[in-house]
Amino acid sequence: MKLSDNKAKLSFSNGSPDVDLPVYQGTIGPDVIDIRKLYAQTGQFTYDPGFMSTASCQSAITYIDGDKGELLYRGYPIEQLAEKCDYLDTCYLLLKGELPNKPQRDDFHQLVLKHTMVNEQMQFFLRGFRRDAHPMAVLTGLVGAMSAFYHDSIDVHNAEHRDIAAIRLISKMPTLVAMAHKYGVGQPYMYPRNELSYAGNFLRMMFGTPCEDYKVNPVLERAMDRIFILHADHEQNASTSTVRLCGSSGTNPFAAIAAGVACLWGPAHGGANEACLNMLEDIQKMGGVAKVGEFMEKVKDKNSGVRLMGFGHRVYKNYDPRAKLMQETCNEVLAELGLEKDPLFALAKELERIALEDDYFVQRKLYPNVDFYSGIVQRAIGVPVKLFTGIFALARTVGWIAQLNEMMADPEYKIGRPRQLYTGSPRRDVP
Ligand code: CMC
Repeated sequence: MKLSDNKAKLSFSNGSPDVDLPVYQGTIGPDVIDIRKLYAQTGQFTYDPGFMSTASCQSAITYIDGDKGELLYRGYPIEQLAEKCDYLDTCYLLLKGELPNKPQRDDFHQLVLKHTMVNEQMQFFLRGFRRDAHPMAVLTGLVGAMSAFYHDSIDVHNAEHRDIAAIRLISKMPTLVAMAHKYGVGQPYMYPRNELSYAGNFLRMMFGTPCEDYKVNPVLERAMDRIFILHADHEQNASTSTVRLCGSSGTNPFAAIAAGVACLWGPAHGGANEACLNMLEDIQKMGGVAKVGEFMEKVKDKNSGVRLMGFGHRVYKNYDPRAKLMQETCNEVLAELGLEKDPLFALAKELERIALEDDYFVQRKLYPNVDFYSGIVQRAIGVPVKLFTGIFALARTVGWIAQLNEMMADPEYKIGRPRQLYTGSPRRDVP
């Protein structure tokens, strides 16, 4: 962290002495005021529920400029990565800080693609779940259970253990997500095929059956790979912060990532793609494009509790760059599958058109986020709606690991322990 010449001064109206606070500069983005000694100096805390103005850590992994609508992984714009790299290149970049050269790339691809199989016992563990369990419930359990299967990589303070756990998680997540799916639909699990690409292997484990050969469609393979790239990391969002907070206690990497999976499930976060597709299907049932105006009135009515899912973001106050790329992929996939006239896609475009012109959305700077089109792509590929968030979790695993490893290697790392403003009863005696 670079100390700025600028200093912040905090004054109090009750005559307490002023406090000088150091200010740090990042490479880009807003400066931060260092309040770590504030309590020791003043006996007071700061109050910031939802972390609206609080940087919880320093990080060199991902940068978002919400006003510009820019997303950088290790400095590289997401558009260039989506165009020129594949998901495993992106994983290497996020984990190691640089894009791989050719031998590094070959080694990393081999390493990940050769560790895709999971302990056979996992199948029996999976059998304890109801068949109709939500895949995110199953995945939270399966990922957490990895710490019960891979005892030799659970010491989060050991860099080698962290590296092994990272490869295991990235390699095995597609297998676990596909197993959760197959279990739910009552089909046999498909063992991974290591000669396929990461995305191709996943598609085969999802949609192949032992009864016939599965041929990977390159357009769908590329689309799935792009979904993975776009979801790989996103700064200190709720699930990433959960992983950091959980990991800060020194728990093992699998347990910390399982906490991230649990957090991602919520509809305000990773669950939004599922919620968005359900919303589009509901509008379609109501009458489709003709009912968009009526639905938008409900969204704008604060008493209705209805939100336009797939719209708005805590950080982006401009078009989410991932949404643009996802819309492009959506066009490609629908064309490949002959679904150009897909009514949900037409509906989504109409909702977007109206929202981008409507004062309610313009004033609040609400734009489509990544989830607005990703559900349509996944549905077209054949992914059941219930599994959308599981695929998000698969893709985000690398980001969670990169962030966890960065925290563990940070000399300033401490257990996360927020404070509070207590508003309950003062001390009283039991009558
Ligand atoms: N539909 C209608 N109104 C909205 C929406 C929406 N989707 N999002 C925000 N608003 C309004 C909100 O009612 C508030 O209005 P007012 O100022 O009049 O009270 C204003 O915009 C600010 O909203 P907020 O809830 O204070 O903003 P936030 O930063 O706390 O919430 C959000 C961000 C993503 C939770 C929210 O925009 C939302 O609920 N969006 C829908 C869910 C969604 O698509 N989530 C996916 C996020 S991207 C994927 C990911 O990173 O996980």
